[in-house]
Amino acid sequence: MKAKQPLSIVKMKQMKVNKEPITMMTAYDYPSAALVEEADMDIILVGDSLGNVVLGYDSTLPVTIDDMVYHTRAVRRGAPHTFIVADMPFMTYHSSVSETMKDVRRLMQEGHANAVKMEGGSEIALMVDACVKAGVPVLGHIGLTPQSVHQLGGYRVQGKTPEDAARLLDDALTLERAGAFAIVLELVTDQVAAYISERLSIPTIGIGAGASCDGQVLVFHDVLKYTPAYREKRFVKTYADIGSTIRESMQNYVKDVKQRSFPAQSHAFHADDVVLDSLYGHGKVE
Ligand code: KIV
Repeated sequence: MKAKQPLSIVKMKQMKVNKEPITMMTAYDYPSAALVEEADMDIILVGDSLGNVVLGYDSTLPVTIDDMVYHTRAVRRGAPHTFIVADMPFMTYHSSVSETMKDVRRLMQEGHANAVKMEGGSEIALMVDACVKAGVPVLGHIGLTPQSVHQLGGYRVQGKTPEDAARLLDDALTLERAGAFAIVLELVTDQVAAYISERLSIPTIGIGAGASCDGQVLVFHDVLKYTPAYREKRFVKTYADIGSTIRESMQNYVKDVKQRSFPAQSHAFHADDVVLDSLYGHGKVE
C-alpha cells in the first residue's frame, strides 16, 4: 500500500474552496500520534496544552521549548505521514525575530514539525511574516489565547461585543496578510467565527467556535476523557471514557496481584525438567 502523503498548506486552502472540513487533533506522544494518524487525521497539533493534560500544570505558561521539542519528536515518530504543527511556547516569540527563529528552528529541525503555531493577532504579525519569509508555515491562533489567560482575565468566550468582534476580524486579516496559512479560532461566538471565516481566503480551524469554521480541532485528552478528573466543556464532544477504563483496569490489577489471581499459569514461562533437576537435584518434589 502507498504511504499516506501529509497534507500540504496548498491543499488546505483548496479544501476551504471545496468546503471540505479540515480535521485536527492534538497529540503529545508516540502512541497517541500513531492512533491519530491511523484515523486519517488531516493535521496533528502538538499543543502547549500538554502543560495541562500531560505535565500536570494548571496553565500552559510553564511549558518550555525543550518540552515542545521533546514531545514533537515523539509525535513525529508515531505519525511519520501526517502534517504536524508544533506550538511555540509562552514568550518565545515576543522579544526579537532572531530569538524567535532559534526556537522555530528547533521545532522544525529537532522536532521534525511541518509548521509552528503562535497565539496572538496584529502584535505578532512581524514574527509571522519573518517565519513565512524563512519558509516556515505558521498557523495563527486568536480568540481565547491561553498563553494570555492573565491578560484576558480567565478562559472566557471572545467576540461578545462589537469592539471585540472588530478586533478579532482585524487580527485575522492581519495574520492572513502576514502569511499565516490558517488560523485557529478558540472560544469565539459562532456568528463572529462564521463572519471571519467568510472574510478570509485561508482556512479557520475552530475550537468552541461553532460549525462554520473551515475545520475543527479538539484536545485528545478531552475527547477521550483521559484525565483523573474530567470537567465537562460545552464545546467538546467526548467519544470514549478512557479515564474510567484506566482507573478500573488499575484497580482490578491491584486486586488480582494482592489476591494472587495474577499471574495465572497461562501467563508464566515454564522451565524444562533438566533445568529443575539442576536446581533442585534429582527426585524433585512434584
Ligand atoms: O495547545 C493547544 O492544544 C491548542 C488548541 C486548543 C488549539 O492551542
